Amino acid sequence: MSYASGRHFLQIPGPTNVPDRVLRAMAAPTMDHRGPEFGVLGREVLAELKPIFKTRNPVIIYPASGTGAWEAALVNTLSPGDQVLMSETGWFASLWQQMALKLGLKPEILPTDWRHGADPAAIEARLEQDRAHAIKAVCVVHNETSTGVVSRIGEVRKAIDRARHPALLLVDTISSLGSVDFRMDEWGVDVTVAGSQKGLMLPPGLSFNAISTRALAAAKSAKLPKAFWGWDEMLANNKNGYFPYTPATNLLYGLREALKMLNEEGLENVFARHTRHGEATRRAVTAWGLEVLCANPAEYSGSLTAVMMPEGQSADRLRKTILEAFDMSLGTGLGRLADKVFRIGHLGHFNDLTLTGTLSGVEMGLKLAGVPHNRGGVQAALDYLGTPLK
Ligand SMILES: Cc1ncc(COP(=O)(O)O)c(C=O)c1O
Repeated sequence: MSYASGRHFLQIPGPTNVPDRVLRAMAAPTMDHRGPEFGVLGREVLAELKPIFKTRNPVIIYPASGTGAWEAALVNTLSPGDQVLMSETGWFASLWQQMALKLGLKPEILPTDWRHGADPAAIEARLEQDRAHAIKAVCVVHNETSTGVVSRIGEVRKAIDRARHPALLLVDTISSLGSVDFRMDEWGVDVTVAGSQKGLMLPPGLSFNAISTRALAAAKSAKLPKAFWGWDEMLANNKNGYFPYTPATNLLYGLREALKMLNEEGLENVFARHTRHGEATRRAVTAWGLEVLCANPAEYSGSLTAVMMPEGQSADRLRKTILEAFDMSLGTGLGRLADKVFRIGHLGHFNDLTLTGTLSGVEMGLKLAGVPHNRGGVQAALDYLGTPLK
């Protein structure tokens, strides 16, 4: 490939662009992970993570990708043969189901059309039928990265409560934490799964479980085999800021810096920024005459937008054209959406000009690839972004 000058535009919905401050923070000599300096770092990041999850409960950090934290959430709370109710909101929700199956659980699927979030009414109805309380957990992906649809977790909690059902609520926030408002304690979430490479603006390699008191109690009797993922040893070591095995030390330097940045901007401002960029993106998409995959405005995502291609047009050919002409990566369609949608990531270390550059690349790419569209998407976004904030 020939040399491309200027920065690559990494506009997939994660991994996201890592800020220079975070890169510099990680460029440090490797430290002794059992020495006093590490204990200080460990205690600091473990404490500072809690407000990002909006929880007072423990948050633990695995040196693993998000898939590891999915597994940890299941094996620490459940036993072989347990029934789990899983909303199939898209590709990532279906991968979590496949994992549950492989672990010896009995996932029951509540399907969606992949254009809507988890349906609280369907969850309530199913739990009401389950008089024997055989269902031990309800699993929902908060921001479905394959579709750009945000499930209403607060409503799911209310549905579980209305059914007076004791199932745990396990929520994947891998592409929402630090970009879409998430309230672990207020919404009564029992285990929150998260990853480093999206809203937290870090490279891939860290993942998280935030654990409610009920989940901790369930862990005492959960019988699925676990070793690396076990919460008990992790929590015991974390008390002093240490880990039971070698932590990803340099990523934790990066995490400390990224948390500082989120706090400097203010978490609510971070959410508002993402919401605004989602709106500007949808205005561009609509002006192009294309359709946003998310069908419910109450479930629009601030972290990414999945755009449907006109009938007979290839999303992957468009993405290839854009990569080759403008050095910009956009997200591919996953599973049943392969080649039918492309995804614009607008999360993490991102601002108005990054968005307008991204949308410009898409608009020029649509023309170059010969995809039928109207001009003026970028202009629609500029008109919106250029209006003073109230
Ligand atoms: C919502 C969601 N869940 C789970 C995963 C899997 O995480 P990882 O690829 O870090 O293992 C991803 C990855 O993009 C995701 O977006």
